[in-house]
Amino acid sequence: MTTKITFTRPDDWHLHLRDGVALAAVLPHTALRFARAIVMPNLKPPVTTTALALAYRKRIMDALPKEARFEPLMTLYLTDNMTAEEIALAKAGQIAAVKYYPAGATTNSESGVTALPKTYTALAAMEEHDLPLLLHGEVTDSDVDVFDREKIFIDRHLNEIAKRFPKLRIVLEHITTQEAVEFIQSAPRTIAATITAHHVLLNRNAMFEGGLRPHHYSLPVLKREQHRAAVLRAAVSGNPKFFLGTDSAPHSKSAKESACSCAGIYSAHAGIELYTEAFEQAGALDKLEGFASFYGADFYRLPRNEEKITLIKEAWTVPQEYALGDGNAVVPLRAGQAVAWQLLT
Ligand code: DOR
Ligand code: ZN
Repeated sequence: MTTKITFTRPDDWHLHLRDGVALAAVLPHTALRFARAIVMPNLKPPVTTTALALAYRKRIMDALPKEARFEPLMTLYLTDNMTAEEIALAKAGQIAAVKYYPAGATTNSESGVTALPKTYTALAAMEEHDLPLLLHGEVTDSDVDVFDREKIFIDRHLNEIAKRFPKLRIVLEHITTQEAVEFIQSAPRTIAATITAHHVLLNRNAMFEGGLRPHHYSLPVLKREQHRAAVLRAAVSGNPKFFLGTDSAPHSKSAKESACSCAGIYSAHAGIELYTEAFEQAGALDKLEGFASFYGADFYRLPRNEEKITLIKEAWTVPQEYALGDGNAVVPLRAGQAVAWQLLT
């Protein structure tokens, strides 16, 4: 039995860091584990310009612990009004990607896109400047069942975007369904997907275990077992189109434990350990390094990290909560329960 593994330091290709005191509270968890992260732009107000993104980047750098070696990769929030000029500025300003949220789909998505054709000018500019498009791939139509939002997005929109912009690099974020896995497997090399730890470890039963479990509620919502298993198989398959993106998304305990609970699962505290558990359970620890440390960097055309990390198989108990600043706390995934692997620091 493997009890210790050493591999190239990983990157997190989908992360929510928030801002202000919450940013300072959660950032050390990610910076300890990951060399780089793609930072989501769904702040309030959203990060819609390069100037806003670079100012946010500076706040992240200022909040980093002194000893940390971590690089935030910034993204812009796509809106109906995003211009080709703003895309050119983004490319020049080292922005890593542009994120699409359908209006109203999730946390702080009020300014998101109301109809994809409204973004075609921006998408054409992104294709020209080779700036990747990151998709929250869900429709929000009220006649579509919430569990089918991803599948219908692929049918109605992703096929069309891929056809219209064949050179545009696209990441379908946080995939949750067998349909998404199959789409990515048969898509051109320009299209990849990120996979979260919660979507490979939990199926939708986790939201209803002995009562309603708001800390297992995120978007896209957890799916049935057949889909969890398909997404896990994709993650451990060694196919470079699938790579790590935690989608760690902190919300205060009071916002989660409320009549209208916010979507988001906080997993940065065990951001690599949870994947290690899932890969071990699948008998695929040898596939972890590619998924966590190589394929994302290759897709984003960035150098692979050189540093190594080591994990040991020694269980630890996750705290019930972590302080989030301003008297708030965040309840992490696995709160009060064991995680089988730990990071050697
Ligand atoms: O569960 C989610 N939380 N899904 C998202 O798309 C956004 C995220 C957040 O920002 O809280
Ligand atoms: Zn997200």
